[in-house]
Amino acid sequence: MCGIFGFTGKQDAAPLLLKGLSRLEYRGYDSAGICVVNGNNNFYIGKAVGKVMELRNRTEGVDLAGYTTGIGHTRWATHGGVTTNNCHPHTSSDGRFAVVHNGIIENYSELRTMLQNEGYIFYGETDTEVAAKLFEHLFDEDDFETLKKLTTVIEGAYALVFIDRENPNRLFGAKLGSPLVIGIKGDSCYVSSDYRSLIGTVEEYITLEDGDIFCIENGDYRIVNCEVELVRDKESITEKEQAMELGDFPHFMLKEIHEQGEVLRNVFAGRVDFQEKTIRNNTLDEIVAQGFERIHIIASGTSYHAGYLGKQYLEHLADLPTEVTVSTEFKYGKQFIDRKTLYIFVSQSGETADSLESMKIVNERGGYTFGIVNVPGSSISRLAKSGLFTHAGVEVGVASTKAFTAQIATFLILALAFGQKKDLEYTRFLSILEDMEKIPDRIETLLKTSDRIREVAEKYARYPNFFYLGRSYELPIAMEGSLKLKELTYRHSEAYSSGELKHGSLALIDADFPSIIINGSSPLHGKNCSSVQEVKSRGGKMIGIIASNDQKKDIYDDYLTFEASLPETEVFSEVVILQLFAYHMANALGRDIDKPRNLAKSVTVE
Ligand code: AGP
Repeated sequence: MCGIFGFTGKQDAAPLLLKGLSRLEYRGYDSAGICVVNGNNNFYIGKAVGKVMELRNRTEGVDLAGYTTGIGHTRWATHGGVTTNNCHPHTSSDGRFAVVHNGIIENYSELRTMLQNEGYIFYGETDTEVAAKLFEHLFDEDDFETLKKLTTVIEGAYALVFIDRENPNRLFGAKLGSPLVIGIKGDSCYVSSDYRSLIGTVEEYITLEDGDIFCIENGDYRIVNCEVELVRDKESITEKEQAMELGDFPHFMLKEIHEQGEVLRNVFAGRVDFQEKTIRNNTLDEIVAQGFERIHIIASGTSYHAGYLGKQYLEHLADLPTEVTVSTEFKYGKQFIDRKTLYIFVSQSGETADSLESMKIVNERGGYTFGIVNVPGSSISRLAKSGLFTHAGVEVGVASTKAFTAQIATFLILALAFGQKKDLEYTRFLSILEDMEKIPDRIETLLKTSDRIREVAEKYARYPNFFYLGRSYELPIAMEGSLKLKELTYRHSEAYSSGELKHGSLALIDADFPSIIINGSSPLHGKNCSSVQEVKSRGGKMIGIIASNDQKKDIYDDYLTFEASLPETEVFSEVVILQLFAYHMANALGRDIDKPRNLAKSVTVE
């Protein structure tokens, strides 16, 4: 996905665009560019391969005073290589229009051929350049009317924002499938892919809906959808500016790892009453009352791993058969949609195209959709029939951390809510609920052992491959730990059920292929110890993620410990250790922690 930012008003646009783009960089950081226009109808276009800082350096020293309208873009390449020619904004052949785009124009190839036959010459390979030249081709003296025509021709998902050098106080565009918001404060008007880039700039914003076509000029805006003029509700921005700042931390990821104790307190608030020792929440009461007989969880990446742990919770604590499917497979698989199944969509961003498109299918076929989402106002949260926000706050680091722990806490609460209405033994319900209250403090204590985790991470930084092993509740934690290592260190790793290794993959084990096993206080602790021996006896190194009271510490080459508690709750400590393990190894390897290569924070294209 990509980040779009636009401004029109009385101030010079370039500094505002660069600030907005730096806050959207998590959406993609292959290249960045801006196009600004002044009152004499002159464009300035600056582009740079690499991060927004490269663009800032490129525009340094250029006199852009009086250029008070502009658009900016930070790119995650979908069509066309990472080159200056493919960097947005893209322009019409006559140089009058410029456009930035987030999404994919599915029929861009046919349109490009049609335009080439009409004599248009292309300088790049992107679908967005097709939109620029198509607008020029359709232009009939009215920007807004031309835009309406354009949206009847292009197919796919898009958030498009145009500027017209002949109308230098105007921004206009269209939204279908990719997010776009408008923020206005006095005579300053902003357009952005994410309202959070406007934190500290405006107090309210408007979320555009699919099919909206908009025009902003001189502090006012117009929105049309299906030929109907609309006034959309404004939403307030509640996050404070420091949410988007690093503070005393070297990286957003480390800041967000350290926020997890507070995040979990927020997740529990308003849902878990630790005094009354009960789960109390209207949404949960309504969902449980529906009498669902099965659960189907659909998600991608880290959110899929949260869903996989959610399956363990829902089956063990609420006796609900639960299926988990990656979004990319769900949409193109055979779907059996029925009214006795609750379809849970898990997404930090709420914009992941694979999950969003899968949810649309379930909605269209009458299934009951439930969102576990972090970003308020996001597409998945708006389309779900019901849901719970994870309240993890803004997560800037591309590698998800606090959003994951917030997601699994939400699943634990959901499972207990279903469980207390089914036949979950009250003593077990109570013991888990009472232990949940200790999780935030436990995490904050664990964070103080970060130096020990760093020591072990640096010791193993030279190895190219790793197994992450676990069973039952701890297999999804192994999966999440493995993904963190891959995302951050670019080292290969594979999560595996520790019991399964002997059925073939054990062949990979040698002195240069270490394994990490998550082996807490679960009933499978002994079985996991056997798996450790299988690896050790073949010369494999073994790192144990184990409870501090584990009596078998000596079977490991190295181990990292957490406070023993319950299988259902030790997973929170285990994943924090693995987050820090990956973080410290990546740091030792000199990786870009918050913007790992090739990735983006949320993938809004299929
Ligand atoms: C996890 O660290 C990655 N950022 C990625 O796997 C992410 O979890 C996945 O793309 C799903 O994103 P979502 O939660 O916003 O839907």
